[in-house]
Amino acid sequence: MNMFIILMVAVAAVSGSKDQIVNLANGDPKIMLGLFNMFQYEYGKEYAPSERRLRLANFRQFVKDAARYNEEDEDVTYGITMFADLTEAEAENMRGFNATGMNDDDDVYEQAEVNPKFNLGANHQSRYGPAKNQANTNACWAFAATAVLEGHTSIKNRRYTALSEQEVADCTSGSTVARGGMHNKALEAVRRTGHLATSASYPFTYRDGYSCNTRHQNALPFRITGVYKVNGDNGLAAALSAGPVAVGMGFDRQLSAYRGGVYSNRSCMSVQNHAVTAVGYTSSYWIVRNSYGTGWGERGHVRFTRSYQNMCHISSYSFYIRTQSNGEVE
Ligand SMILES: *[C@@H]1O[C@H](CO)[C@@H](O)[C@H](O)[C@H]1NC(C)=O
Ligand SMILES: *[C@@H]1O[C@H](CO)[C@@H](O)[C@H](O)[C@H]1NC(C)=O
Repeated sequence: MNMFIILMVAVAAVSGSKDQIVNLANGDPKIMLGLFNMFQYEYGKEYAPSERRLRLANFRQFVKDAARYNEEDEDVTYGITMFADLTEAEAENMRGFNATGMNDDDDVYEQAEVNPKFNLGANHQSRYGPAKNQANTNACWAFAATAVLEGHTSIKNRRYTALSEQEVADCTSGSTVARGGMHNKALEAVRRTGHLATSASYPFTYRDGYSCNTRHQNALPFRITGVYKVNGDNGLAAALSAGPVAVGMGFDRQLSAYRGGVYSNRSCMSVQNHAVTAVGYTSSYWIVRNSYGTGWGERGHVRFTRSYQNMCHISSYSFYIRTQSNGEVE
């Protein structure tokens, strides 16, 4: 086949539709190779020559799986994402939340009514800024918590400011960038320090090993009066009307190929391994911001159906904050 045609098909497929992926998975091996080259280019992937064969094999399997998901699940589009060349172990290493560890101090958290004077409505995703990228770290918990703090800052200041996941990670004891952690502990850490640097003054370094320093330039003050656990789906909706909510969820291989639509496949219920941030809802779905960049899902977000309670565990380990600026004084 003509190289130009292969390239054009590959370009279409990297951002492609359901049918394109299905055709490709069953099509010419040369097209698969063209697609793989495009993927490498688009995601900036570089491999040692000895590694390339393994990566291509992973990629081919991922495209085949994405094609099958597209055929079996009408409502959702699946395709190529940053996970396409990874082994399952590598992908699992980017889901750094462990619900088992959380059960120990579950009941420390009370529920609090959302202040009715501070009801923004259901969907204010646009205020909360773009999805970020944790890359191949286990820092989802720090990103989930930081997105909550960004949301509150944005509501208060009427302007989005990217905040520092690195400082959140440095200041949360017992949680790490390399091995994972707890989004509620991260929120507690900022409640204690009362400050958080901007991303611009203290960017994410993808590493552990820095001490907790709350004196970065341009650090923003936080007067957090409490970290609270939501009570089921109704509690999640109520909490969302006052700001974003850090959520522990189940993220499986099928979700790693998600490119858009209202997600309703319940295979995600078999795990509880990832932390994200719920940012809004309608009567039929939740809107969730992930930390896998803007290339995954709907510009980095996913919509989960509300037809099932607790879809993908969205309300099992979900935490919100109240601050003095949203009308709360201790
Ligand atoms: C989930 O998706 C898989 C693969 O597409 C499909 O086989 C299965 O029937 C789906 N399950 C549900 C509950 O939707
Ligand atoms: C999760 O936490 C539990 C209890 O703290 C621990 O035994 C288990 O090994 C952890 N699992 C992972 C995958 O880290």
